[in-house]
Amino acid sequence: MIRTALVIGASLLGTAAVLAQEDAAVTQQNLMKSIGKPMYGVLGKMLKGEIAYDQAAVDTALNDIAAGVPKIADTFKTNPKHDVPNANFGASQKIWQNKADFDSKIPPVEKAIAEQKGKIKDAATLKVSFDAIQVKCTGCHDDYRVKLK
Ligand code: HEC
Repeated sequence: MIRTALVIGASLLGTAAVLAQEDAAVTQQNLMKSIGKPMYGVLGKMLKGEIAYDQAAVDTALNDIAAGVPKIADTFKTNPKHDVPNANFGASQKIWQNKADFDSKIPPVEKAIAEQKGKIKDAATLKVSFDAIQVKCTGCHDDYRVKLK
């Protein structure tokens, strides 16, 4: 009886540990998705002509990206040691071997967003600003994002 309780208790603990780990990977991915949505779901779609140019939507999207990026360093503090199941992208283990270098990729994105704020007036200027920001996102993705699918 006690033995069974101990075994069940131990397996519950094990499950809790796995869930906690999954949380970190999911939280990290959700942050990136929340940055990707305004970037590609709004600005990218406007660039492709899939949605009409809309100044208010552009300004909101930039603000949303600017709000998400400073959260990257803290959100990636924990190494989940696994990928989100069935995900398209994962975080490279290199992040936690060189967290300082990973973190150093964040300020260039913040700087690019700050520099482009107020410069986007139409589709042509949107293209210039989008590229200027995107290249800084890629600066981190090239080293630390893994394509899983
Ligand atoms: C300091 C590093 C870093 C910076 C800067 C960064 N990212 Fe990421 N990004 C990652 C990592 C690591 C992943 C993989 C994590 C994951 O998707 O689980 C990722 C994944 C993504 C994904 C894929 C999410 C998915 O569906 O799984 C998108 C979209 C994305 N980033 C957008 C952006 C955009 C847009 C910017 C710039 C405005 C940016 N990221 C800046 C590290 C970064």
